[in-house]
This record gives sequence, structure tokens and C-alpha cells, in this order.
Amino acid sequence: MAAAAVQTALHTPVPAIRGVKTTPMGKPKFQLPLQRPLPPAAYFKSPFDPFKHLAYHTMPARHTMADIGLENQGISTIGVSEPFELFTPEAVCTMRNEVLSDEVWDNCRFSSSIAACQLRGMAPQYAKFVYDAWSNPETLRIVSEIAGVDLVPVMDYEIAHINVSVNDNPDGENQAAPVVNWHRDSYPFVCVLMLSDASEMKGGETALKTGSGEIMKVRGPQMGSAVVLQGRYIEHIALPSTNCRERITMVTSFRPKNPIIADDSQLLTVRPVSDLSEIYNQWTDYRVEIAEERCKSLIKGIREKKRVGRDFDVDGVKGQLSDLIKFLQKTHDEIVDPAQYQINDSEEEREEQASTRMKKRARMT
Ligand SMILES: [Fe+2]
Repeated sequence: MAAAAVQTALHTPVPAIRGVKTTPMGKPKFQLPLQRPLPPAAYFKSPFDPFKHLAYHTMPARHTMADIGLENQGISTIGVSEPFELFTPEAVCTMRNEVLSDEVWDNCRFSSSIAACQLRGMAPQYAKFVYDAWSNPETLRIVSEIAGVDLVPVMDYEIAHINVSVNDNPDGENQAAPVVNWHRDSYPFVCVLMLSDASEMKGGETALKTGSGEIMKVRGPQMGSAVVLQGRYIEHIALPSTNCRERITMVTSFRPKNPIIADDSQLLTVRPVSDLSEIYNQWTDYRVEIAEERCKSLIKGIREKKRVGRDFDVDGVKGQLSDLIKFLQKTHDEIVDPAQYQINDSEEEREEQASTRMKKRARMT
């Protein structure tokens, strides 16, 4: 009976997807920052070492979801942290070398209507130090402690998403464009690390919309510092900044470590700026693994009840099965064939995007 229910649910038509405008890779609007890195050979001389490269020392001030007027939403009572020191200058230097290397610039660059330049999917292939830094148990302990819930990176593809904003006239009044417009993230939590010298920067805060519609600003981090944000549940924007040549942030997205905790992840904001073959592989892998863990937990529960002679918990078991169906349905629906995108833009833009998607499809083969 349950199998039949899953079967029916999985054949529900795919809903319309609103995407973001993408521009073809290979047409950068600006040049890389002036300080071009050396080849990332430094990693092999100095791999990530939590004792050497982590700079965290004190729990930062945190704002709860209740403070933001969003009580009882999300997977943690914590909404956002103030900036805190996370990585040492040496670690930041090594990270910059990796993420600004030619091979990352050539293979991982995306542009869309919500961000002019993003570098995605470089870890671990092109960024092993970065991968190790965000996968290290001590880093995860720190981020989890601040977030108020045990977290792990959503998947490798979401380790070290880079937003790049360059101001060609840093001394003038022109502002660097907003790095990303108002949005909610696709994943429960993010940790945003600053990779640029922001000591003279003006602006650049993260603005949050509270439950009552008011705007609340959180100060931007300095180089090597980070903020933790429950971005799936809080509408936010990185405000424009002035007085800086570049603003490069590294965003790693997290989901709950415990497979039983709700995971509202989706691919809406990231699908158009991703290698689809890669992200669909990783998405399916982690989601099915969570479903497997939830099945194991369900079986363990009913076996234990039977063993001690308790009645079958009809409501409880049906509730868990229902949640499982919804979870798998979401997993299924987020895998959208590029040909099925329905983007609410003009015909002309749609044609331009079709051309882009053709190129992305070509990359999938
Ligand atoms: Fe965000």
C-alpha cells in the first residue's frame, strides 16, 4: 500500500520553475582582482591544519529567530550571528590562491541575473585546502555551535560558492553592485567568509527582513571572519559596498547532520548556476541516503514496539511514511530537465537562455 502511494506521488507533474537569467560562461564582465595568485602548489607544503589555520576563539553575539520576528521557523532557534574570526590570514591566503586560480576561473565561473560572477563547484577537484577546511570536524563543530544545531555541508558542490564583485573605481562614489539581490537561500544554513580586505570598506552589511517587514542590518565580516545565517528562512541581501577594490565572499551551505531533522533544501536558486550533471548526482546521492536513514529509523521503531508487545502505532507510522513520501517527492521534483525550465521572462530573453541551456546540456554529456 505504501509502495503504491509513493508510486502515485512520484508521477505528479513537475511544477513550473522560475529560474534566473544566466549568461554564457566565457564572457566575463570584468577582470580578476589585481593580486593574482600563485599556482596552488602551496597546499602540498601546508595542508589544512585546524590548530594552525583556525582562528576561532569566542562565541559571537547571535540573534535568535524570535529576535527577528520569525519565531518557530527553521531548524534552529538561532537566526544569524555577528561576525567572528574563523580562519587565519595564512589560511585565507591559501584559499584565495585556490579559488582565484586560472583553472577555477576557466571551469567554475557562472553569471546570472542575481549575481554578476559566481565561482561554483571547485571543491575538491580544484580546491583541496578549501575542501579540507570546510570538511574538518573542528570547523564543523564551530559552525554547528554557533548555528545551534549540528550541521554538515549540504554536498561537495555547495562547499565554497564564491561571490565576486569588483569596483573599477574604488575611490569614487560608484558603488560595487549588490553582490546578490533580495532572496532566501536554497539551503537551511550558510556560513559566509570574507576573503577580501574589508578594513576600509563602507557598506557591505547583510540586511535581513524581519517578520514585521522591517529591515535589520548585520555588520559585514572582515577578512578571515565569517557570519552564520539561517538563510533558507530569512529573506536577506548583501548590501552594496564602497571604498573597496573587490569584495570576494566564500559561502558554504549546510544542512542538519541528523537525518531525522527536517531538511527544506531545494535547488531553485542554484540550478541555473550549476553543472547540472554534477549537482543532480550529488543531490540524489545525499537525499536518497537521508531517506535510507529515515527508513532504517522507522523499521527500528516498529520492530522495537513489536518486540515488547506494543500495539502498532497507526498514526505515528503513517505520519513518518507521509513525511518520507514528501521528502522523496521534493527530491524528485528538484531534478528538472533543462528542457522543462519555464522562466518568466520575455521571449527574447528566453531564446537567449535556451542557447545557454543548450551549452549546459552539452556539458552534461
Ligand atoms: Fe543568501
